[in-house]
Amino acid sequence: MDLSTSYLGLPLRNPVIASASPLSADLGGIRRLEDCGAAAVVLPSLFEEQLRREQALAERMIDIGADSSPETGSYFPAVSDPRSGAAAYLDLIARARAAVDIPVIASLNGSTLSGWIDTATQIEQAGASAIELNIYRIASGPTVKIGDPVAECIALVKAVRAKTRLPLAVKLHPYYSAFGAFAESLDDAGADGLVLFNRLYQPDIDLASLCWNNDITLSAPNEIRLGLLWISLLGTRLPRASIAANTGVDKVDEIIKYLLAGADAVMVASVLLRKGPEHLKTLLAELETWLNRRGFGSVSAIKGLMKHQAAGAEAQERGDYISGLLSYRGKR
Ligand SMILES: Cc1cc2nc3c(=O)[nH]c(=O)nc-3n(C[C@H](O)[C@H](O)[C@H](O)COP(=O)(O)O)c2cc1C
Repeated sequence: MDLSTSYLGLPLRNPVIASASPLSADLGGIRRLEDCGAAAVVLPSLFEEQLRREQALAERMIDIGADSSPETGSYFPAVSDPRSGAAAYLDLIARARAAVDIPVIASLNGSTLSGWIDTATQIEQAGASAIELNIYRIASGPTVKIGDPVAECIALVKAVRAKTRLPLAVKLHPYYSAFGAFAESLDDAGADGLVLFNRLYQPDIDLASLCWNNDITLSAPNEIRLGLLWISLLGTRLPRASIAANTGVDKVDEIIKYLLAGADAVMVASVLLRKGPEHLKTLLAELETWLNRRGFGSVSAIKGLMKHQAAGAEAQERGDYISGLLSYRGKR
């Protein structure tokens, strides 16, 4: 069975990538993920605030997110572990590249344009196989105008693209308007791949203590649907960028569905945190079994089988929405 695929122009032995999480935070974890079958690993994000703390840089806030950056700096939790700084991160990239054969994708989360660019350059020098820009911004500031987040994101990708030759992935949450046009613009700006989607951090309120509860919950399979929809819609619209599906994989079913919708690769974090990296072996064996049973000889044979044609997609989705509502048979 041929499970191979490619993502960001990188050949992969299978479509399952270990998404950024604590599991890839050290060399032992990265080796284990490779041994269990991960086709590539994404390192946990390096946050610009981490760097600024470490370097005590007084950056001039002239760039993206300038209005929010000083605040994020002061809200960023103190980093007590000295190994968590930039030097350690760059060192981990270099050691991981020497230790494993699979691609090692560094993840960067900046807050100023200069921060993104400088660190991307350092990541390239450290020898990463690719960079994932973890673009995470809740654009809630009073000075943010409609359209600013999209324009800034495109400008950021262009700026980083101009400074590095590394394959560039952009990891996004789904809450941008006109997402299809946005994705096309990112492709045009030089993104080699999109990670769809990041999970937006959503706090809860603890009714006993009346405090905000900021804990991270792990994902559930019903969260794949927004990704499925957009991946199936984008399949015919992106001339060059590949797509890694992300969020909600628990069983092999979600991986198969994402591939059918048109994903080139599928990223997983929660399921590995829940069941351990060894579970990758089960997922890959089950993928192979499913392909065999259905008479497919490769992952490429199912990639995009269920994607939508761009023309008429909007009308079709509207029709599907209406028929979904009308055909609902609830339990009484
Ligand atoms: C504990 C934890 C830590 C994470 N750290 C990062 C991170 O540093 N950078 C990032 O881009 N995503 C991070 N993520 C998000 C995951 O990479 C992934 O995008 C998200 O969990 C959705 O995938 P899943 O449904 O397979 O968990 C983290 C997720 C968890 C649960």
